Amino acid sequence: MGAGIAEVLARGGLSVVGVEVNEDALERGRGHLETSTGRAVKRGRLTEDAQREILGRVALTTEFADLGDCDLVIEAVPERLDLKRTVFAELDRVCRDDAVLATNTSSLSVTDIAVGTGRPSKIVGVHFFNPAPVMKLVEVIATVLTEPDAVARVAELVKGLGKTPVTVGDRAGFVANRLLFGYLNQAASMLESGHATRDDIDTAMTVGGGLPMGPFTLMDLIGLDTCVEVLDAIYAESRDRRHAASPLLRELVTAGLLGRKTGRGFYDYDRSAAGASETAESAADGPKPVVGIVGVGPLADAIAALCDRAGAEVRDSAARLAGCDLVVEAAEDAEAGRALLSAAAQAAGPDAVLAVTSADGQVIEQAMATGRPADVVGLHLPDPAGTLAEIAATVATAPGVADRAAGIAARLGLTPVRCRDRAGFIVDALRFPYLNDAAAMLGAGYADADSIDAAMTLGCGYPTGPIADLDRLGLDRAVAVLRALHAETREPALAPVPLLTEHVAAGRPLR
Ligand code: 3HC
Repeated sequence: MGAGIAEVLARGGLSVVGVEVNEDALERGRGHLETSTGRAVKRGRLTEDAQREILGRVALTTEFADLGDCDLVIEAVPERLDLKRTVFAELDRVCRDDAVLATNTSSLSVTDIAVGTGRPSKIVGVHFFNPAPVMKLVEVIATVLTEPDAVARVAELVKGLGKTPVTVGDRAGFVANRLLFGYLNQAASMLESGHATRDDIDTAMTVGGGLPMGPFTLMDLIGLDTCVEVLDAIYAESRDRRHAASPLLRELVTAGLLGRKTGRGFYDYDRSAAGASETAESAADGPKPVVGIVGVGPLADAIAALCDRAGAEVRDSAARLAGCDLVVEAAEDAEAGRALLSAAAQAAGPDAVLAVTSADGQVIEQAMATGRPADVVGLHLPDPAGTLAEIAATVATAPGVADRAAGIAARLGLTPVRCRDRAGFIVDALRFPYLNDAAAMLGAGYADADSIDAAMTLGCGYPTGPIADLDRLGLDRAVAVLRALHAETREPALAPVPLLTEHVAAGRPLR
């Protein structure tokens, strides 16, 4: 991260002094700078001359004293308060009195660091995001002790680097990590509980959630040790058990499997990080399925449209369900869906897969009502216009039936992922708690809607921010999914926050 920040500053035309603990570490830092700028040269984004200039602006040293002339110093040492305090004591000694000292901490309290120095009014947080040269967000953190001029100078400098500063107060996780890490930890717990596989969760969140990386790929990029540190710090403030690092994460860290930087974390980088949907792709080549659709409404129309696009025959009359490979119940409400699927189960052939889309509780309830629960799966399209199909097998689903459902989905041009029969399947179970947290943050007045949305789009590459997402997906839908998640888990933080229920009652979007 230190090398990434040095690169950003040097690319911005500034002279940089990079301090490392010893010659070996300096060499590694130099290596990072050369690799990262070299990648930009290879991609034709930087000329070799420009690369030389950038590298020439970074002076590398092991002496703190070489920082004596700097206007701003950014600390990026490991996340240990004692270590940071030692570094800041040294900086305090060698730096000019008017120099601003910044910490790139992702988890520690900036105030804790500031009070250990002789110049707390000149201490700010500047929080960069991985990879620093790419991500546009920098959170600028002001403590109650920071003088406004120091914050303004840092925010201006950040803008001058072509990045977007979001200025917030000193709370654990600031904006982006506070929202991101609950979600990442929940994904780890989902894996640990056997709800879905690593690859299916990553695929669900990229294909269905539109994210640039799935949670396990991202945790491996961040570093699993950093993930645990950030979670510990957020938990210490929130006391929300969703921030208690998953035992699986801790086990990987104890084993030294820290992600990309050690060659193995959730993925093994000596082999391939990919490999998500091999079965789905080979299954996609079979004959086009015959699909029965029972129920009317927008979802039924969307399923009929995707069958048309895939060249699959659609049957929607009860009399013609006998030869269908898949019968999908797509009623608008669960009560109607239950009756329709039960009738369809009588008409469908013995080899048909029956799919429930309208469960208001668990899929198993609808499955039992059909009289042939072994043939029933849950089917969820988180975005009916998208390509992700989540397939939930219940405890009663016969072996092989979810495989057949996944094969049929693949032949319809969808990307299937599997999970167990739990509220929200994968995508909604992961995204609505995160959206609820964002609404809670807005309601608490910690950051405004623009800052929250900017944090997630510019810091984490989300296509839209959470406040915009809530309005796009529908606040009533958010409240309904959160109530289902809360009813299933009784997890207090999953109950929809008052700001959401109030806006639903008022019939008004958040923006
Ligand atoms: N260093 C430097 N540049 C890099 C890079 C790296 N490690 N990885 C990718 N890049 C550059 C590429 O050179 C390319 O540049 P170009 O557009 O100028 O040619 C650009 O980034 C896009 O790279 P790719 O086409 O290879 O890859 P993707 O399109 O898949 O994008 C990504 C990669 C930008 C990392 C994208 O997947 C993404 O946005 N992921 C989300 C990352 C994220 O959430 N970061 C925040 C984590 S939380 C955090 O850091 C806070 C901390 O406190 C824990």
